[in-house]
Amino acid sequence: MDKIIVEGGRSLKGEVKISGAKNAALPILISSLLADGWNTYSNVPDLRDVQSVKHLLSHLGARIETDGNTVRIDSGGLISHEAPYDLVRKMRASILVLGPLVARLKKARVSLPGGCSIGARPINLHLKGLARLGASIELKHGYVEASADCLKGNEIYFDVATVTGTENLMMAAVLAKGITVLRNAACEPEIVALAEVLNKMGADIKGAGSSVMTIKGVSSLHPVSISIIPDRIEAGTFMVAATLTGGDIKILDCEPDHLKSVMHKLRLTGADIKTETNSIRITGPDEIKSVDIKTLTYPGFPTDMQAQFMVLMSVARGLSIISETIFENRFIHVSELKRMGADITISGNTAMIKGVPMLSGAPVMATDLRASASLILAGLVARGKTEVNRVYHLDRGYEAIEKKLAHLGAAIKRVAS
Ligand code: EPZ
Repeated sequence: MDKIIVEGGRSLKGEVKISGAKNAALPILISSLLADGWNTYSNVPDLRDVQSVKHLLSHLGARIETDGNTVRIDSGGLISHEAPYDLVRKMRASILVLGPLVARLKKARVSLPGGCSIGARPINLHLKGLARLGASIELKHGYVEASADCLKGNEIYFDVATVTGTENLMMAAVLAKGITVLRNAACEPEIVALAEVLNKMGADIKGAGSSVMTIKGVSSLHPVSISIIPDRIEAGTFMVAATLTGGDIKILDCEPDHLKSVMHKLRLTGADIKTETNSIRITGPDEIKSVDIKTLTYPGFPTDMQAQFMVLMSVARGLSIISETIFENRFIHVSELKRMGADITISGNTAMIKGVPMLSGAPVMATDLRASASLILAGLVARGKTEVNRVYHLDRGYEAIEKKLAHLGAAIKRVAS
C-alpha cells in the first residue's frame, strides 16, 4: 500500500487545474445504462471510484473505451442485472445502478452497500422511492431484489435530502409512465449536472437544483456527448491548502458558483479570494482567524469539506466549533490530528477546536477519503515529516493530489510500500 510523505513549512504558490467531479462522474457514467449506443464523457477524473464504476458497468455488459480523461460507454448489450457484493463493497455509490436497471431491464439485483467509516449510510429512502414508483422490493441474503413490469410516476417525499437517493430516483423516473414529483430532493450541483445530462438524453426534468423536481417519463432516451463539471470539493481542498500555508494560488477550471459557502467561511478566516468565470485566486492570511461551521445540505457548508476545514481551525487563533449534521461518525480524522498536536474535543456531533501555534509531523493513518485529504493538509503545515498511510482512500477521490501539491511547491512525495 502506498504512503505519502510531506515535509511541512512550505507556502504554496502557482496554478492548479481542477479535475472533473467524482460525485458527478459516478451517477453520470451510470446513466449510460438508460440508453443504447455510445455515450462520450469528457473531463472524467482518473480515480479509483471511477475505475470501480467502469468495472461494474462492464460486469453488467456495457462496452467501455477509455482515452485519458475521456470515457465512452455503450450499454446496448447488457447481459446482467446484478451488481455483486465484491464490486459494491468497494464503492457504495454502486447502488446507483438500481434505478436505471429497473427502468431499463425491469429488474435489478444489487448488493446492499453496508455501512462505511463515516456512518451507517442506509439506503431506505432509495428503496422507499422505488416502491412508490411501483417496483417490488425484496431484501434477500444481503441483496436488494427489485422488479417492475412498468414503473409508474408518483409523488415521492424524501425524509432526508439524500444525494444519491435523489439521483437513483431521477434515473428510475425518467423512463416511468407519467409524472414523478421528488419533494425534499437534494440540490447539490451534481444533481443539476445529472439532470442536464438526462435532459440532453431526451428526458423531461424540471426543477433540478431546487427541493422539488418534476420528471415527466418518456418512452426512450438516446446517448449523448458531455463534459463532467469541475470537482468543487477538490477545489475547496486546495483553497484550504492555500489559506493554511499562507500561500497564493490560482485555481483553474473550477466553478466558483459551487463554492459560495466555502469561500464565505474562508474569507472569515482572513483569506483573500478573487473569482473569475472559471478560476479562483486565493491568498492565505498571516494569521488564521477561528471560524465556526455547521455542515448542511447544499448550498450550506459541505460535509465533504469538514475535515479539511478542521485542520485549518487547528492552527487558527482562538476557539472554533464545528458541527457535523449530515453523518453520525465523520470525526475519525480527529484522533490522528490530535496525534499531530491538535487540541480538539468532541462532544456528540460537535468538535471544539482550540488553535495551537504549530502541529508536529507524525506517521498517521488515513481512514476515509476526506479524512486522508485532511491529514495531507496537516502535513503541509506541521513541523517535520508526516507520513500518511493507506492512501488508497485518497486515490478514490483525488486525481494525483501529491503531484498537484508538489507543482505548487509542497515538499511531498508518494512512496510505494
Ligand atoms: C453523497 O453521499 C456523496 N457521495 C458524499 O460524498 C457526500 O458526503 C454526501 O452525498 C452528502 O453530501 C456521492 O455523491 C457518491 P446522502 P450519499 O444520501 O448520497 C442519510 C465523498 O467524500 N440517508 O446525501 O450516500 C444518510 O445516512 C462522499 O465524496 C438515509 O437516512 O449521502 C446521511 O446521514 C462521502 N437514508 C444523509 O442521509 C437514505 O436512504 C445524507 O446522505 C439515504 C441517506
